[in-house]
Amino acid sequence: MIKVENISKTFTSLKALDQVSLQVGQQDIFGLIGPDGAGKTTLMRIIGGLLDPDQGEVILMNQAPEKIDRQNLGYMPQRFSLYTDLTVQENIEFFGSLYSLPKQVISRRAEQVLEITGLSDFTNRLAGSLSGGMKQKLALICALITRPPLLVLDEPTYGVDPQSRQDFWRILYQLNHQGMTIMVSTPYMDEAELCTRVAFINQGRILACDTPHNLKAPFSQRVLEVRTPCQDPRLFDDLEEVEDASFFGYKYRLVVADGPRGQQVIQSYLTAQGLDFIIESVPPAMEDLFVIMTGKGD
Ligand SMILES: Nc1ncnc2c1ncn2[C@@H]1O[C@H](COP(=O)(O)OP(=O)(O)OP(=O)(O)O)[C@@H](O)[C@H]1O
Ligand SMILES: [Mg+2]
Repeated sequence: MIKVENISKTFTSLKALDQVSLQVGQQDIFGLIGPDGAGKTTLMRIIGGLLDPDQGEVILMNQAPEKIDRQNLGYMPQRFSLYTDLTVQENIEFFGSLYSLPKQVISRRAEQVLEITGLSDFTNRLAGSLSGGMKQKLALICALITRPPLLVLDEPTYGVDPQSRQDFWRILYQLNHQGMTIMVSTPYMDEAELCTRVAFINQGRILACDTPHNLKAPFSQRVLEVRTPCQDPRLFDDLEEVEDASFFGYKYRLVVADGPRGQQVIQSYLTAQGLDFIIESVPPAMEDLFVIMTGKGD
């Protein structure tokens, strides 16, 4: 559905995207995961045909982005793009009219997506008076009004409460099961787990791109959990083997370069300090992978 080949984009002297290539398949919920300023929006705007790359090519549904029928691409920008002084219903009608959809078609489709998103009881509320999560759902409804086969969502859950984030993902799954291809960006690592495929992006470069399962496989031995009575967030700071340490009050989560060797070193270190401890190898989470790949803990 989406083919990105060797895209680069520079703003004045800043390289926002550096030779980015990826492919999104028809059945994907494809996650573009990376921190602030990684290049997510720049890439999505190029995919959406809103920005030209300096170099490289994008193919959407076998066509150049500027050639595709706009009704085939639902695009939800990062910044709230709705009219706060219009009601929910009026916003939906306005977006539908941009595509010259007849009024009956708009209201029929609106009814369905309002139902899915749980906004049916709020159609007369001004968009400006909706909660953050509801605003995002309304923006999604507007992006869905043409029933596009391809949906591109730029950080749709940013700043939204955990319950609304869960609701939002439930909706995305439902749409995906109905056959919609979804590309979604997020800074939240836990959301990466929910995608069928994930690309990690950092400083304009794709660090890795695969299924969550395949991304984790090479790192299966490298995350250790340590429980010990000593509660010092800096306990492992001086150990060279430990690439990253997070402290959770009752346990430490450590990323090491080599699992078995890391365990040995940590055991000797804690024993030498006379501390009791329990140490175990645990499956890596997406957050751990990102730390490992960016070398943030070095
Ligand atoms: N129009 C522009 N002019 C100059 N610099 C820009 C422009 N748009 C983006 N940038 C820069 O390009 C880099 C990538 O920005 P981008 O908005 O794509 O990141 P992002 O991953 O979407 O970040 P965020 O999570 O904060 O939305 C940033 O350093 C940003 O400051
Ligand atoms: Mg962005």
